[in-house]
Amino acid sequence: MRPALVVHGGAWDIPGVAVDACRAGCRRALEAGHRVLDAGGAAMDAVEAAIVVLEEDPVFDAGFGSHLNLRGRVQLDAILMEGETLNAGAVAAVERVRNPIRLARRVLEASRHVLLVGEGAEEFAREQGMPLCRPEELVTESQRAAWQVCREAGHDSAAHFAREHGTVGAVAIDVAGRIAAGTSTGGTCCKYPGRVGDSPLIGCGCYADNEAGGAASTGWGEAIMKIVMAKTAIDWLREGHEPQEVADRAIRLLRERVEGTGGLILVDRQGRIGASFSTPHMAHGYRNANGEFVVFP
Ligand code: GLY
Repeated sequence: MRPALVVHGGAWDIPGVAVDACRAGCRRALEAGHRVLDAGGAAMDAVEAAIVVLEEDPVFDAGFGSHLNLRGRVQLDAILMEGETLNAGAVAAVERVRNPIRLARRVLEASRHVLLVGEGAEEFAREQGMPLCRPEELVTESQRAAWQVCREAGHDSAAHFAREHGTVGAVAIDVAGRIAAGTSTGGTCCKYPGRVGDSPLIGCGCYADNEAGGAASTGWGEAIMKIVMAKTAIDWLREGHEPQEVADRAIRLLRERVEGTGGLILVDRQGRIGASFSTPHMAHGYRNANGEFVVFP
């Protein structure tokens, strides 16, 4: 079958100055993922490749350049899920891992567990021979400055506005019909240390099942968790609903049932794409039937 990939860089109120960078980041992620898929590679590899690009890009809230927590540190969460086996690997609250999606994959493939957090996750990374970075290496000057502004405003919610959601994600189906989904995030701006949102949780941050499709969420994690958004959407795909209808319905449920904001990207088992969001923008992109990348801020 024809492979497909959809990526996102978060549903948020993207300021004008960041629009071009978000577009360029999504495009680079699509290029990286499609390089894998077009060579006959696996959906898991494509999702990982796309998310590594997004984690490395400081315009997004994942990996390098993530929001700082109340203590002024970056704490990262990520998940990767394989639709063939329903296996998943996830990490949460790691501070020394530059590409948590890579560590999530190691958890999936080389551990007996699904989710490792904090020091244990970092110890596992060391055991797996993955390089650890210093926590300061994940902090950009602009995020440090934004954190200072929040701190001086007493962490008033207005200071966080428009900077809460820049999580990244990707969903792919490969030539063999295998589906994978992944998500990576620095979480919310000035979050409480140890706070974990939807992103690294199966069914919340992402879900993938070859029998139905794959989905990745972004937005306000405390609300997304309550409706288990990615799995809910996949259940609707399984019932035979169209991907765009499913994405719209999930975002409506998020808004109406739990007053949440956010976005969702989807690929169904035929490679059809859906994307929906309730924020002013969602940085996201995919390749259309003509082989052109379609990238929206
Ligand atoms: N959706 C990302 C988070 O709430 O952490």
